[in-house]
Amino acid sequence: MNSNQETLHERSLQAPEAFWAEAAEDVSWDRRWDKVLDDSGKPFYRWFEGGVLNTCHNALDVHVEAGRADQLALVYDSAVTGTARTFTYRELLGEVARFAGALAHQGVEKGDRVVIYLPMIPEAVIAMLACARIGAVHCVVFGGFGPSELATRIDDTQPKLIVSASCGIEGERVIPYKPLLDEAIKLASGKPDRCIILQRPQAEAPLIPGRDLDWTDLLAEAEPAACVPVAATDPLYILYTSGTTGIPKGVVRDNGGHLVALKWSMKNVYGVEAGEVFWAASDVGWVVGHSYIVYAPLFKGCTTVLYEGKPVGTPDPGAFWRVISDHGVNVMFTAPTAFRAIKREDPGGDHIKRYDLGSFRTLFLAGERCDSDTLLWAQGHLSVPVIDHWWQTETGWPIGANCVGLGTLPVKPGSCALPVPGYDVRVLDEAGREVDRGETGSVAIKLPLPPGCLPTLWNNDEGYRESYLSAFPGNYLTADAGYVDEDGYLWIMSRTDDIINVAGHRLSTGGMEEVLASHADVAECAVVGVSDEIKGEIPIGLIVLKAGVDRFEEEVIQELVQMIRARIGPVASFKTAAVVKRLPKTRSGKILRGTMKRIADGVDYKMPATIDDPVILDEITEDFLGIGYPKEPQS
Ligand code: COA
Ligand code: AMP
Repeated sequence: MNSNQETLHERSLQAPEAFWAEAAEDVSWDRRWDKVLDDSGKPFYRWFEGGVLNTCHNALDVHVEAGRADQLALVYDSAVTGTARTFTYRELLGEVARFAGALAHQGVEKGDRVVIYLPMIPEAVIAMLACARIGAVHCVVFGGFGPSELATRIDDTQPKLIVSASCGIEGERVIPYKPLLDEAIKLASGKPDRCIILQRPQAEAPLIPGRDLDWTDLLAEAEPAACVPVAATDPLYILYTSGTTGIPKGVVRDNGGHLVALKWSMKNVYGVEAGEVFWAASDVGWVVGHSYIVYAPLFKGCTTVLYEGKPVGTPDPGAFWRVISDHGVNVMFTAPTAFRAIKREDPGGDHIKRYDLGSFRTLFLAGERCDSDTLLWAQGHLSVPVIDHWWQTETGWPIGANCVGLGTLPVKPGSCALPVPGYDVRVLDEAGREVDRGETGSVAIKLPLPPGCLPTLWNNDEGYRESYLSAFPGNYLTADAGYVDEDGYLWIMSRTDDIINVAGHRLSTGGMEEVLASHADVAECAVVGVSDEIKGEIPIGLIVLKAGVDRFEEEVIQELVQMIRARIGPVASFKTAAVVKRLPKTRSGKILRGTMKRIADGVDYKMPATIDDPVILDEITEDFLGIGYPKEPQS
């Protein structure tokens, strides 16, 4: 099929205001905008200045009013509890409006922050939409983060209220959330007035009188709340993501631009129509969950699937195919790591054959670089187009994709295809000049970013400017390196900062180093992301002990592993470290993490010209061998 993507992309860059004004006609406004793009505060831009609307109204009420009241809006499928629940648009609206009423009754008002720390249950979606309904700003924290990470977010957002649950369920393990929440509140300097706790039968939690309220009791008494009109430029949510230090960045999403861009993306990027079933197998704690479990499918009038489970082990590698077949999923989105896990357990795709996948049309992968083997395996066994696409928490929706709604482009495994309309992607050299096609450089996006992307960081305009806009003035720095090939296809190869991608989860090695360095026996340390067959990358710690420390190395390492679990969370997957004599550095003292990564991965490396003492690399090679790196190549 011929693709219209290049033509539309060109049009979107030549006349962005006309392009996005046309897209904005597809959403419901209380008041139309005065200006499509307000560039009076360059390099800060605002979309749909003067416009007034409500995000929840566009996700639910408009569909109930337009005849979709009895269509399923949300299907909750829990492989870990063996249950499923469905909500029509009418039912979901009822739940959301009542929970919004409960929040309002607790004094939550437009602009107040609400932290949501919930597992993958419908209440997470309800709480997010309820905040949007009353103009409160939600901040969802992924359940795999520990108390310190939660406390950092509480301190930065100063929430009026926190919504949480008694427990999450990971495979067969019940993880009590309440002790983590209580610990986080203890650590945080700003305390919320109230916590609303959903009691799950797998592990009920004791409530603290005067602070904690029971979700079910509260909802029973609540009156439904109406939508509160907000400015298009008002914040809808804050989502923290790893930055180059241990302090996460609070990505802000506005209401108007987000709504327009996400709704546009459903048809044009994903090729999905209202009434169809869309499933993003991610977590509401990540951007994919915000954008494509909750908001975009509901804006479009689709049925969205919320899956509590894993791709393997709940109970077997056929879990995804069961969900597709049970709920008639048309389009699915997940991370390549999930497919690597399935492929390892079911290399011949035997579980796929057990299910009727007649409804299934397209698979989208993102969150990390997708290796060709995984893409081709999925394509071969599923017999549907497998589309790799590239985006970031900051952008909120895809930057580079094969926009199947505009006509499918040929797939090149390893490339995310062409820039999506709205994104002026440039590959730059160190001086900020565009490089030739085929040459690798820093991938940047010429400002303005399209609607839906972050307008700034929460309470931190300066941090936004410094992290993203200062490297190449006039451009947004993606911190990804890559190139554009002779056909204009984008190849995103690696990060240019200290971020690693562990099972599709974005983590900062700098943040982990800060935790390790705080151990009393550690003089110096480095964390590098080494290749992992399933998770893509995993962090490995290299530790130099303080002079005079005379303890079993294994004992110290176990303490360090526990510290990362407690301070960052189990999601960091930090399980391996080695005690080394010294760390390789440049003459100016910079630790050679990139070289160490290549050694651990068993990849050839060039001796860095500025290395202080080349002998250390031989020592480090031995140290890596001692902990089993490089791994034997897999057949
Ligand atoms: N609450 C509490 N703990 C959590 C959690 C949550 N929401 N999510 C993960 N964890 C814990 C896990 O239990 C595990 O703990 P453990 O070290 O005690 O075993 C740890 O964090 C690492 O979890 P995970 O990275 O999920 O590894 P896994 O081995 O359990 O599963 C995969 C591996 C590949 C199956 C899994 O990572 C996966 O399905 N990934 C899909 C990726 C995805 O959804 N990415 C989002 C972007 S699209
Ligand atoms: P996150 O903010 O967690 O979505 O992570 C964003 C980062 O993941 C990007 O900056 C990339 O480094 C990486 N990433 C996401 N999708 C892709 C992709 N399709 N190809 C290559 N890298 C990707």
